[in-house]
Amino acid sequence: MGTGRAVPDRVLTNAELEKMVDTTDEWITERTGIKERRIAAPDESLSDFALPAAERALESAGISGSEVDMVICATVSPDMSFPATSTLIQDRIGATGAAAFDLSAACTGFVYALGIAAQFLETGWARTALVVGGEVLSKITDWTDRNTCVLFGDGAGAVVLRAAEDDKRGVLGVAMHSDGSLGDLIYLPGGGSQHPQSESVLDQSLNFLKMKGNETFKIAVRSLAEVSDEVLSRNRLSHGEVDWFIPHQANRRIIDAVGQRLEIREGRTYVNIERYGNTSAASIPIALDELNRDGKISPGDVVLLSAFGSGLTWGAGLIRW
Ligand code: COA
Repeated sequence: MGTGRAVPDRVLTNAELEKMVDTTDEWITERTGIKERRIAAPDESLSDFALPAAERALESAGISGSEVDMVICATVSPDMSFPATSTLIQDRIGATGAAAFDLSAACTGFVYALGIAAQFLETGWARTALVVGGEVLSKITDWTDRNTCVLFGDGAGAVVLRAAEDDKRGVLGVAMHSDGSLGDLIYLPGGGSQHPQSESVLDQSLNFLKMKGNETFKIAVRSLAEVSDEVLSRNRLSHGEVDWFIPHQANRRIIDAVGQRLEIREGRTYVNIERYGNTSAASIPIALDELNRDGKISPGDVVLLSAFGSGLTWGAGLIRW
């Protein structure tokens, strides 16, 4: 019914990163496709972006927050461990009594949340769902580690969903997977019950995310292509019938490789990584909102979303707009 997004005002360019770590604009651009990213101010947290994204989605849907009876916020960088950031959103939009929970599936979070919301609408257990994907990864990024700090950005995107009157439009299907044996490819060791915040956690930099980028890269291409195929074939749709492919924006080379494997039509893979970097759970809903507000998606269009991330988790969603 509606989409929205909100990102920090602060733009961090590759040129600025050149002054912070041993890197170059050329390396970052060539290896990732990223030119700049948005970074939250020290006093900003996830809800500062998740809430305006949600409000814009409600406005574009033309409904008030009081009509929402389910709020899901996909994130791994919530305001606090608890209460869930979704409950802050629930309160601020006036969704009185709505179910509200955060969902932790890292960069795949929005796809997972979309699948869950769609199921609740289909069964009639919820009537109107607000699904937000948002991150402030800058707060868990080691700004001295060139392997990771050039990659990520902050922001939030949101969608409002309501059961369609006919079954030809809406979320046609979602596929979701995980492989916990690959958990050490991307993870945040500190701050949980295994390594609670302490001097020693800070001394060892366990409060920052760790990533084996190269290994993740190879798995990403394969899993994104396979899960996209899965959701398409389940709905008896061919690659050529995809009007918009919105992959998780982790790396331009991953996006291009997957788009080629899936034989997505020329110009139909949406890319905005150059402006935002990898915003994890926010990347797909931000992209969706850009396409929607720019009037590039038409009613009836087949939109394929696919994502992968820490867990590892991966998933794809198919929407008939
Ligand atoms: N600037 C300059 N050099 C850098 C650098 C930077 N910012 N970051 C890493 N390098 C160096 C490495 O130190 C390495 O040097 P070495 O060969 O002397 O050891 C070299 O570049 C190549 O590193 P490698 O990791 O093989 O590069 P890559 O081509 O795989 O690109 C990523 C690195 C991280 C961009 C890429 O692997 C990637 O995007 N992976 C997926 C990550 C991802 O999607 N994560 C999130 C999942 S949601």
